[in-house]
Amino acid sequence: MTRFSYLNGEFLPHEKCFVHIEDRGFQFADGAYEVTLFENDNLVDGDFHLQRLMRSLRELNIEHNFTIEELKKIQLELFSKNNFLTSAYCYLQITRGVANRTPWCPKNLKNTIVATVSAKKIISPEELDKGFTAMTHDDIRWHRCDIKTVNLLASTLVNQKAKDAGFDDAIFVREGIVTEATYANVFIVDDKKNLITHPADNHILQGITRNRLIKIAQENKINVIERKFGIDEMMKASEVFLTSSTLIIRPVFQINRQEILGREKASKPSLAKILKEAYEDFVGSISSN
Ligand code: PDD
Repeated sequence: MTRFSYLNGEFLPHEKCFVHIEDRGFQFADGAYEVTLFENDNLVDGDFHLQRLMRSLRELNIEHNFTIEELKKIQLELFSKNNFLTSAYCYLQITRGVANRTPWCPKNLKNTIVATVSAKKIISPEELDKGFTAMTHDDIRWHRCDIKTVNLLASTLVNQKAKDAGFDDAIFVREGIVTEATYANVFIVDDKKNLITHPADNHILQGITRNRLIKIAQENKINVIERKFGIDEMMKASEVFLTSSTLIIRPVFQINRQEILGREKASKPSLAKILKEAYEDFVGSISSN
């Protein structure tokens, strides 16, 4: 079974895909990307991911001529070339292109576009039931976390620091405010069953899963509040969970080696479980193109 990837207009065997050494993505992280879930022969919220990619490119002043339709076609064709994958992810990246190394942004470059697909990691119910552990960490990222740029060094270093210390992930805190995890958004549930998450400003990525879950929650008459909260409030919450296209919903049971205090009094089934099932129903309802 050959694994195909996409590079600048061609579908090639994965190991034949090479990018130029002076690609601005390689030298400056001068590019944007998306990770999209693929289920039932279709991309889950694929249009929203591509709209966010367009926004990221715009915010980075990266000129390009791609349309959402073209990009979607590339993604779906890549899955059909890798038809051994059923539940999977598509990674799609566009950089400014190749140029002699200059600290400014040259104009009229030919973008570099790459896409890869990979199988979705299957998580056992036991693993899910264990919940995540996390540590808190100063949010050392820049002030444009709303752009999904390939500059992920701060997140990678902090994620590794968490792993080295025996945690599953780290939750960023900026000036006392919980922003998001290294690769996911953070939600808490208070004792009145309100679902609370950081507002979509420049200090978080406005997650597509986050947005979808907010919609699903509201349809299920769950009150959603987009507001800031700190570590104390998070520790007292009945539930804390992370959301992303790869994790979907992952409850966090322990932070900084302490149990989430409100968990004992939390209602059963948890909101995380209710929302996860509702999300799965939503994914199940997506018909193929
Ligand atoms: N990351 N916040 C950050 C910093 C992220 O990197 C991600 C996703 C999210 C959740 O976004 P979404 O729900 O659209 O996946 C929030 C992806 C999965 C990644 O970089 O691999």
